[in-house]
Amino acid sequence: MRRFLIAGNWKMNLGPAETTTFFEEMKTLTADVSDGAEVLVCTPFVSLPAAVDAAAAIAGFKVGAQNMHFEDNGAYTGETSAAMLNELGCSYVILGHSERREYFGETDAIVGKKVVRALGADLTPVLCVGEVLAQRKANEQNDVVATQLKGALSGLTPDQIGRTVIAYEPVWAIGTGEVASPQQAQDMHQFIRSVLTELAGKDVADSVRVLYGGSMKPDNAEELLGQPDVDGGLIGGASMKAGSLFKIVEIANKLS
Ligand code: 13P
Repeated sequence: MRRFLIAGNWKMNLGPAETTTFFEEMKTLTADVSDGAEVLVCTPFVSLPAAVDAAAAIAGFKVGAQNMHFEDNGAYTGETSAAMLNELGCSYVILGHSERREYFGETDAIVGKKVVRALGADLTPVLCVGEVLAQRKANEQNDVVATQLKGALSGLTPDQIGRTVIAYEPVWAIGTGEVASPQQAQDMHQFIRSVLTELAGKDVADSVRVLYGGSMKPDNAEELLGQPDVDGGLIGGASMKAGSLFKIVEIANKLS
């Protein structure tokens, strides 16, 4: 049986009050997600305490952050460490999202340091990779993704890589309504596994969950999650309403 990971990325949306409302709605839909797909929302930092509190009422529902610093503590004004997220009750952290790479200058080397630190604090990193439209048009997507994966993961042990989740998010499909075709997703996920095999061996590569992200919604989730190498979704817009996130969870459960 496959165990999908259905992860929401709220980005800079839903403050603490809206977070509480989201979970009130989610609670009317389910009291327990511990059995089927693993379910997670990654909220803004300020909404994490409200999310962790409210998620406790839904068995198995997990909470994650969208970023963190790679140091444990120190003079890094405005930053948050992995240990702090762990103390708060987070179990996951998204790292290297394309918006962080584009707007905040995050490089593969920085993202790699964050992955190591997250793992050291018992957080599961969700490492995002993906090409922009011009790279897809030039058929460079595999090179781009291989460089991102190797840039972030080559210093890690196979065990560390095995505890990482990868999210393939083609930048041209994020927030645009334009979704990768199921075949494009499958091809890239298979390619990602081949790079992971080079880095950590086939057993690890086969066990790592590779999520698809980019305009995933209830009406396209089934064909994307139906691909053999798609192990879940990293969902932006459609994760901010309890009803639509839950529909995707139900689709994943049906497929597992
Ligand atoms: P959308 O689902 O809104 O396209 O966002 C995808 C994303 O960036 C998730 O991290």
